[in-house]
Amino acid sequence: MIKSMSYIERMKEKVEKIRKQERVVILAIESSCDETSVAIVVNGRQVLSNIISTQIDIHRHFGGVVPEVASRNHILNIIPLVEQALSSAKLTFDDIDAIGVTQGAGLVGALLVGLTTAKALSYALDKPLIAVNHIKGHIAANYIAYPELTPPFMCLITSGGHTAIVNVDDYNHFKLVGSTQDDAIGEAYDKVARVVGLDYPGGVKVDRLAQGVEPKIKFIQNDTLVNSYDISYSGLKTAVINYVHKLKQNDEEVDIAQICSSFQHEAVDMLTKKVLRACKEFGQKKLVLAGGVAANSYLRGSLTEKCKDLGIELYFPPMEFCTDNAAMIGSVAYYQLLKEDPADLNISALPSIALE
Ligand code: KG4
Ligand code: ZN
Repeated sequence: MIKSMSYIERMKEKVEKIRKQERVVILAIESSCDETSVAIVVNGRQVLSNIISTQIDIHRHFGGVVPEVASRNHILNIIPLVEQALSSAKLTFDDIDAIGVTQGAGLVGALLVGLTTAKALSYALDKPLIAVNHIKGHIAANYIAYPELTPPFMCLITSGGHTAIVNVDDYNHFKLVGSTQDDAIGEAYDKVARVVGLDYPGGVKVDRLAQGVEPKIKFIQNDTLVNSYDISYSGLKTAVINYVHKLKQNDEEVDIAQICSSFQHEAVDMLTKKVLRACKEFGQKKLVLAGGVAANSYLRGSLTEKCKDLGIELYFPPMEFCTDNAAMIGSVAYYQLLKEDPADLNISALPSIALE
């Protein structure tokens, strides 16, 4: 009797064949937070389509992302987006070699929508499933934007959920140099925005209000992590919140632009000093920014100036690739497929996932 191959054995065999192809087409899905996105990416670098449906307007009413509401909207969006991504790339399912999907980090219910869709597509189409770490996706956004960019490089990840300094040795090798001990920088931006009355997501509004305003307030008196590569944002965030509450209690005027500028300078300066020290220590002459806060004008401007003085090449993703999108997931999936086994159908969503 001929024993039929299991799903995973078949997928491993397929991956072996795909690795020999000159052109590898990946359909990628991202649903970790409040953006549903589906993209078609060729060889990890060429984006044929990248359709993003954001739920920002829905969550704005609640002052932040409501996980259950996010999951329900992902369910409504996901299949139409798969169809749209294919038609906009002028491809059919037959042209796809593998399915890439965000497995974590993120909101568990939101992740499950993308993951379940990806598993169903993989099984029904008999095409390998590649489970991707969302944070690696933010790093890979730069591979799409800069065809000439290759590892090694130092990477500063600044997103709504993560803040970390990572030494990227290779496409699939990452060394965590330092990370936040508490809040992520984007989270701190959003909380400060909320306390001064700006609606969700507040980061970009803080950035805009701070522009051209000389910072005068010093919120943090003593940074205990000054000599470490680790970072803390909870002290700075609490200091801003207490400062605003005190002004309000005393019926004093709240100078929102001044608070935004002073907070932004401290939040960003803390990071830039550490990442430049890391570049020196690890001998990296390339620095790459990743994540939603990489859109911040002060962070970009300040690092552009400092990197120029130090002879470091600086890369930051264009705005459309700073926030969550599936194209970046398709890029990671390609490099992962070249080196690692595909995923089995029993994998779970991983709300917290390590980078190394
Ligand atoms: O990378 P992302 O989509 O989040 C995660 O994957 O976790 O980034 C979203 C974060 C939000 O906190 C948002 O307020 C922040 O990025 N953000 C900014 C700016 N644009 C987006 N923060 C500061 N300045 C900006 N211009
Ligand atoms: Zn993200």
